[in-house]
Amino acid sequence: MLVLRDGDVLGLLSSLSREEAQRLLSRLHDVLREFSQSKAAGPEERTIHQPERETIATRLGNTSLFMPSSITTSTGVKVVTISSGGLKGSINVFAPAGELLGVLNAEEVTAFRTSLAVMIAYVRYPHPKTKVVVFGAGRQAEWHVQLALLLGDVRQVTVVNRSSARRMERLFEQLRKRYPRTEFRLLLKTGAGPDYDTQLRSRLADSEVIFCCTPATTPHFPHSYLDRKSRFISLIGSYKPSMQEVDKDTLLSGDCIYVDTKEGCLVEAGELIKANVSADQLVEIGELHDDSLLRPNGNLVFKCVGMGIMDLVIARELLAMAKEKELGLRVDDF
Ligand SMILES: NC(=O)c1ccc[n+]([C@@H]2O[C@H](COP(=O)([O-])OP(=O)(O)OC[C@H]3O[C@@H](n4cnc5c(N)ncnc54)[C@H](OP(=O)(O)O)[C@@H]3O)[C@@H](O)[C@H]2O)c1
Repeated sequence: MLVLRDGDVLGLLSSLSREEAQRLLSRLHDVLREFSQSKAAGPEERTIHQPERETIATRLGNTSLFMPSSITTSTGVKVVTISSGGLKGSINVFAPAGELLGVLNAEEVTAFRTSLAVMIAYVRYPHPKTKVVVFGAGRQAEWHVQLALLLGDVRQVTVVNRSSARRMERLFEQLRKRYPRTEFRLLLKTGAGPDYDTQLRSRLADSEVIFCCTPATTPHFPHSYLDRKSRFISLIGSYKPSMQEVDKDTLLSGDCIYVDTKEGCLVEAGELIKANVSADQLVEIGELHDDSLLRPNGNLVFKCVGMGIMDLVIARELLAMAKEKELGLRVDDF
């Protein structure tokens, strides 16, 4: 049994090569394809089991999420608690007969697997992806930036955040060394004064890719800030009816909305609920059978609410990588 602490997980993920990231992306996509196919299968043939998550909100103001899942060759459970101190928790991975294979710190894995799911749609977007605007400066935003650089040809990154730069300036310093031809900019609402809106408008007008990575309850910009040029737009922040990162016109600015799970997005994603979106407007990325490019009519919009199977498959891959690289804490007599 292997224990991967936050530092072990970060060590593995931050040194990923493009090929390793592409391999993880393919593994994640394969599991999402199995998930979409599994829905039509009877209980006997089903290979993916993704029950609803359980939530406990305590009187101390902490919310714990329990996310069980099985991909048949592994079974797992992620338990995370969201408190005023952020998100903390672990992912337990079991062999089919129940042997505990590993325990991983969940923080970095959660941000990485969500961003990687976004990249499944991003790498299939056929138009230029050189100018990126990211809303949010938390862990999700950090991984969106890193993976977009690793898997694309990004020349300009603008991170837009409400208050502070968080860890983004430190990340930019590292990324400038690795990607010297890319320009990195921060736009902070606090401190920018009346100029904020002008700068935001200009960055959005230039953008080809917009990643939204916040728990916002009001849209980051009105649809009128975008011209008719096609863009890639992803939304990973909302998980309650009261939450939304973009307005209805932006949400519906493509010929469909790509999602990780139709059922999950219809009940959890505030943008979709407010816009009265129905299942026939959604396409699961698991329904994309081959690796060909998508041909969006308008913007390519992707919404992800996340599932335990995404944590499980990435956790399993990380355990295999850690074993190979002799990382982590080995416990032989568990
Ligand atoms: N789809 C999925 O599978 C999935 C998985 C995990 C997390 N998430 C969601 O993704 C979002 C970001 O997660 P994270 O781990 O990166 O969080 P995080 O590290 O706490 O960062 C949150 C970011 O959002 C900004 N923000 C917070 N409230 C905002 C508001 N009302 N309006 C605008 N910006 C706001 C924060 O700005 P300040 O610096 O100004 O506070 C910060 O930049 C959260 O909503 C989280 O629940 C989604």
